[in-house]
Amino acid sequence: MIVLAKVLVLNGPNLNLLGIREPGVYGQTTLEQINGQLALLAGELGLTLEFFQSNHEGQLIDRIHQCVLTVDGILFNPGAYTHYSLAIRDAIAAVNLPCVEVHLSNIHAREDFRRQSVIAPACVGQITGLGADSYFLGLRALAAKLG
Ligand code: DQA
Repeated sequence: MIVLAKVLVLNGPNLNLLGIREPGVYGQTTLEQINGQLALLAGELGLTLEFFQSNHEGQLIDRIHQCVLTVDGILFNPGAYTHYSLAIRDAIAAVNLPCVEVHLSNIHAREDFRRQSVIAPACVGQITGLGADSYFLGLRALAAKLG
C-alpha cells in the first residue's frame, strides 16, 4: 500500500475574506478557490491535504501542535502574524516539520512593518508576491522536499 505524504494548508487571520478583502492587493480569488486548486495540484503531486484557517493565534498554535505524527509538512500563510507572532514561530520550530511560508502580496515591497517575517527563520523557505501562485509553488516545493 502506498502511503501519500500529507500536507496541512494553514491560513491565518483575514485570509477567510480573500476575494473581497483589498482585491487590488490580494486579488479576487477566494480561499475556497485556492484550496480547490491546491487539492487538484496535490493529486498530481501525490500528496494529500488538510485545510485549516483561523483568525486566532492560539487556534493556529493548537493546530500546528496537532501536526506531530499526523502530517509531513505545512504550507502556511500566517497573515499579519507573520510580522510579530513569536509564539507561532516557536510552534513551527517545536513540531520540527518542513514548513513553507507563503504570501499573496510581496511583503518586501509594502509597508516597512511587513518586511520582517519572524516566522521565516523556522521555515524551509518563503514564497511571496506571486498571488495564488505563491501557494501552488509552495506546495510544489514541499512535494520536492517530501519526495
Ligand atoms: C499576507 C501579507 C501580510 O502582511 C498580511 O497581513 C496578510 C496577507 C499575504 O498573503 O500577502 O494578511 O500574508
